[in-house]
Amino acid sequence: MKIAVLRETAPDEARVAATPETVKKFVGLGATVAVENGAGTRASIADDAYAAAGATLGARADVLSGADILLSVQGPEPASLAGAKQGAWLTASLNPFGGGEDGGRARIDAYAGLGLEALAMEFMPRITRAQSMDVLSSQANLAGYRAVLDAAHEYGRVFPMMMTAAGTVAAAKLFVMGVGVAGLQAIATARRLGAQVSATDVRSATKEQIQSLGAKPVFVESVAGIEGEGVGGYASEMSEEYQKAQAELVSGHIAKQDIVITTALIPGRPAPRLISDAQIASMRPGSVIVDLAVESGGNVEGAVLGEVVERHGVKIVGRKNVASTLASDASALYARNLYNFLSAFWKKDEGRPVLDEEIGGAVRLTQGGKVVNARLLG
Ligand code: NAI
Repeated sequence: MKIAVLRETAPDEARVAATPETVKKFVGLGATVAVENGAGTRASIADDAYAAAGATLGARADVLSGADILLSVQGPEPASLAGAKQGAWLTASLNPFGGGEDGGRARIDAYAGLGLEALAMEFMPRITRAQSMDVLSSQANLAGYRAVLDAAHEYGRVFPMMMTAAGTVAAAKLFVMGVGVAGLQAIATARRLGAQVSATDVRSATKEQIQSLGAKPVFVESVAGIEGEGVGGYASEMSEEYQKAQAELVSGHIAKQDIVITTALIPGRPAPRLISDAQIASMRPGSVIVDLAVESGGNVEGAVLGEVVERHGVKIVGRKNVASTLASDASALYARNLYNFLSAFWKKDEGRPVLDEEIGGAVRLTQGGKVVNARLLG
């Protein structure tokens, strides 16, 4: 069993899909590991560290040659995989619903054409035994943390209340919209920095989670939201009536906030629009909005992917690939997610992983030259 670790080629991608720690563990399972030269450089991992962990290093063609499993963070350019073994697994975040050059259905079709078995890590089911394999959670947690730091960086004031000889500075008011993994970490981080934090979500289970972190829940009460965690922990698109009630509730609240962080996502759909231009205009100049959903279409009107723009004196941060800005920790967690996934299914006698239907069926996009995933066929 040969595992290949690919070097990422997207310009904004600094992460790597394996670390010396996980290489060592794969070697411990009996696999050989080949790492592409320079794969870890941008995550501060030198080639030597991989070699010391038991990997061989080489150019793309060498690491691909005969490999049974390819590990990468983003889906690689299909042309760069020519020469890969038929039936090899491509284990990565494959962004099958994405558009543009770095994802999308066309790329998945190309992987099928190459005879690869593409496994989309973001399709990992949200079940207890898959928690340690969940790349969306591990990366969203870091993105939530980073969003608060980005907001603090762009904000011309301080977060905590300060009582100084020159007078008192008020605490920043920070509002989190969407309290999943990223939102919870944003709340915790903002609280540590001393902001006054409030938060909202459509799933009722988050109310207690918000309170337990010492923040104030702001919830639509007049129209029912999603009971409990929602199906599989996911939200769905809300009714027009709910959206209207939410817009009214949020309008009054946003006008009093200094910072807003939005994280709301709906799987397989564009992100819900939560903040309008009029609501941005109601905030005081110097306020900051961080839109973590900008890659999925954005929660905030006027947010621009990869840029910080100013509207009505309010800065709107639309950073791309936020987790990659914390490449060392993001890689360490991502790599463990991949190791936890493959090792959980490792059959010692066969010396390779064999997936079961619940998880394999959920993450497998292509097999035998065809797209096989129900979410892409339906
Ligand atoms: P997500 O990234 O899909 O969405 C972020 C948040 O936005 C969610 O809380 C969602 O309810 C919220 N949202 C969607 N539409 C909204 C709207 N119109 N207004 C306000 N908020 C809106 O969610 P994430 O962070 O991936 O996880 C959500 C839940 O799933 C969490 O409770 C988490 O614990 C659970 N989960 C469980 C896993 C497991 O058991 N293996 C793995 C990953 C997550």
